[in-house]
Amino acid sequence: MHEFNFKNNELYCENIKVAAIAQTVPTPFYLYSYKTLVDHYKKIRSAFRVLDPLICFSVKSNSNIAVLRALVRNGAGLDIVSGGELYRGILAGCDPRKIVYAGVGKRPDEIEYAIKTGILFFNVESEEELNQIQRAANSLGKKVNVAIRVNPDVVPKTHRHIITGKGETKFGLDFETVHKIFNSQWRYPSVDIKGLHLHIGSQILDAKPFVEAIKKALLFIIEFKIPATYLNIGGGLGIMYSIENPQTAKAFAQKVIPMIKKSGLKLILEPGRFVSGNSGVLVTKVVYTKRTPRKKFVIVDSGMSDLIRPSLYEAYHKIVPVKLREDSSDTAEKVDVVGPICESGDFLGKDRLLPLVMKGDILAVMGAGAYGFTMASNYNSRPRASEVMVMDKKFYVVRKAETYEDLVRGETIPKELK
Ligand code: LLP
Repeated sequence: MHEFNFKNNELYCENIKVAAIAQTVPTPFYLYSYKTLVDHYKKIRSAFRVLDPLICFSVKSNSNIAVLRALVRNGAGLDIVSGGELYRGILAGCDPRKIVYAGVGKRPDEIEYAIKTGILFFNVESEEELNQIQRAANSLGKKVNVAIRVNPDVVPKTHRHIITGKGETKFGLDFETVHKIFNSQWRYPSVDIKGLHLHIGSQILDAKPFVEAIKKALLFIIEFKIPATYLNIGGGLGIMYSIENPQTAKAFAQKVIPMIKKSGLKLILEPGRFVSGNSGVLVTKVVYTKRTPRKKFVIVDSGMSDLIRPSLYEAYHKIVPVKLREDSSDTAEKVDVVGPICESGDFLGKDRLLPLVMKGDILAVMGAGAYGFTMASNYNSRPRASEVMVMDKKFYVVRKAETYEDLVRGETIPKELK
């Protein structure tokens, strides 16, 4: 469930018409529903309530500080993957003791920054990284908590680019190496190895691969008497973009809770898409339409630089006009919704049955709250879109659109060329 619904042929976000926002805020813009964000976060929290887990929202899915603030205010921690995300998390007011830090390539300066900030733990992905953390902790005179990310070698059914728990991927370490690390805790006097971290992939629709991965981790802990106090099971819960039928948070929790309860471990979850995915849409305007002998194109003012998921993963995002015309179903036809960028891969939707749309009409690209703005670029020197948050009947621009000056900020011409 989300708060983007049609009433009398008009798309509303919570209690405000999307078209009304588009009259004030120039397109394209990302539009987020505060209520949907918080509701989805609470869905996971209540599904796992008996275990009182730490729920660390995955900042990479949506890093706007107003979005982070909304969740942090409701008790969420954060899952980060860079110094930049840590900076955002702190700005949003997150207690550093609720922040966990994953990623295979944490730089020494990022490690130092996170230690100084006092995060809960690092999810360590290699022995060299662990050595680096040991060195940094030692020189700062601190004791630092870590969990070791294990690659459980399970294969979830999802797009090949977003599988992370398969043996061949760069993520985590195999069980044998993890065992070796736990047995050599003495090498890391400034580090406390507190547990295991798993994250097997994203947009996973059923619980099976999660259960398989968790089982492997728990068996490993029991068999080798691993002194773990935490199990972080990562994110990855799939959502509905079109006809998917994802597990609910409750059904997922029912499968996971008994296993974790028995183990006595403290649970951490890192949902991203589940919380933010259906909490946002991309609002865009039709610039032109054109018909060629083979196709009809609807050309809009946003493209792969704003939302790269269709181009990169052939991801499906539903596209709807924010106002439906009375006769719209009679005039529906198949169109390609494409952006202004000079690549044929620049599309938001292909062969979509859309009601008649004309130059100047406003469209909403649904399910764009996760990995939308955060993956946007300035390709073709296009300023990045603004971000807007709706709270009931009000809306706030929570990030201004970039300007041409923003595009060249920091660039200089060598004196020889002046
Ligand atoms: N934890 C870790 C360590 C992760 O790497 C990720 C996502 C998450 C949690 C959150 O996963 P989620 O709950 O959102 O599935 N750009 C791709 C998705 C990449 C996911 C990367 N890692 C997309 O647009 O589909």
